[in-house]
Amino acid sequence: MTIQEFSNISGLTTKVVASIDAYKAAKTEKARREALENATSLVRALENPADAIYKLFASPAVLMAVKTANDLGAFDILSQTTSFATCGELAARKNADIQLVERIMRVLVCNGFASELGPGQYEPTDLSRQMTERKTIGTMDSLFVDFLPIIQKTPEFFQKSEYRNPGDPKDGPFQHAYNTTGSCWDWLAKNPEALDRFNTFMEGSRDEIPHWADWFPVQEQLLDGALDNHPLLVDVGGNRGHELVGFKEKFPLGPGKLVLEDLPSVIEDIQNLDSDIQRVKHDFFNPQPVKGARAYYFKHIMHDWSDDNCRVILKHTAAAMERGYSKILIEDYIVPDQNAGVKETLIDMVVMVWCPGIERTRQRWTELLESAGLRIRNFWLPVGYNKGVIEAELEEIVS
Ligand SMILES: C[S@@+](CC[C@H](N)C(=O)[O-])C[C@H]1O[C@@H](n2cnc3c(N)ncnc32)[C@H](O)[C@@H]1O
Repeated sequence: MTIQEFSNISGLTTKVVASIDAYKAAKTEKARREALENATSLVRALENPADAIYKLFASPAVLMAVKTANDLGAFDILSQTTSFATCGELAARKNADIQLVERIMRVLVCNGFASELGPGQYEPTDLSRQMTERKTIGTMDSLFVDFLPIIQKTPEFFQKSEYRNPGDPKDGPFQHAYNTTGSCWDWLAKNPEALDRFNTFMEGSRDEIPHWADWFPVQEQLLDGALDNHPLLVDVGGNRGHELVGFKEKFPLGPGKLVLEDLPSVIEDIQNLDSDIQRVKHDFFNPQPVKGARAYYFKHIMHDWSDDNCRVILKHTAAAMERGYSKILIEDYIVPDQNAGVKETLIDMVVMVWCPGIERTRQRWTELLESAGLRIRNFWLPVGYNKGVIEAELEEIVS
């Protein structure tokens, strides 16, 4: 390492310490992220580039080891241990080869998914405990089993398509990988196990950011002025209804009904849902059947589709809206113009290979909504997050 590189590392270390102190004092998400970014820059400066690249390209093996450990029930066993678990204990549930379990556990320990008290004695960690959560397991299963094969085939798709930005829901990396001509949604409807994994992944996606009803001014922007005889909130493409359930917990007495809309296969997949939430089987490429609602809410819907497809959905929604009363609420990433964060850039890749969709900057959101006859009233962002709610209404008619 050169003198210049050492001095760079000292500067980064000072920044890390200062930002951790700032986080301790402020205890905010924004301060936590700044500290994490600084710590990541420090790790990058210390890491030998050749090692970093090797580690990155071998990292699918980490995913395989974590998935295998979960399939063995290892995280469950670890979470229940009162002292430590041995390889024999971790192998017992599936009668697995102890040497195989030992090799898997080494990878887990290196990556923070278990800690090793003594040789072959394993204890749980925060990460291993997280791996016992139903929604986390669904997320991992969906990404590992259903998305990873597409990611692996995507460079090949780009070569074939001469590096066009994908936008056709029936001709993208997904179809190339699965050798199909239907959309990912058609495929899910025919694969109940994949549908269950995906829907559980969707339920889990709420956990990365507080529920919008916790920070969005629901009272002022939705409830004040809401009429009893109009639907209050329509969750379009709302999956198993988890967002409406969260909303009702916070605002149980709001006027007007709550409506959940999704494709028939998804509505039929719902096991339990508050009976006050009305379920509607609806394809959002058809006219919106629920008219004059106070708000039409779309979470992670627009990011699944190209601008042309979003315009169709938005225009059907606009046709059902009551001017001066109804609004559209879109919960999605608002990608910063510069230095976008890890989450939004990775999700951008995930939706690109799957739907294919796209994450949008402020300017792209503005252009999209205006092209559908809508006007953005506000970009609401909780402090420290790049995901928020875009509030829009019908454009005023100028006479
Ligand atoms: C990325 S998921 C988001 C789910 C939910 N809004 C959330 O954030 O958890 C996209 C949802 O859109 C639904 N969807 C896809 N195509 C649809 C269509 N044509 N009409 C209605 N819903 C559709 C899917 O079934 C899925 O539930």
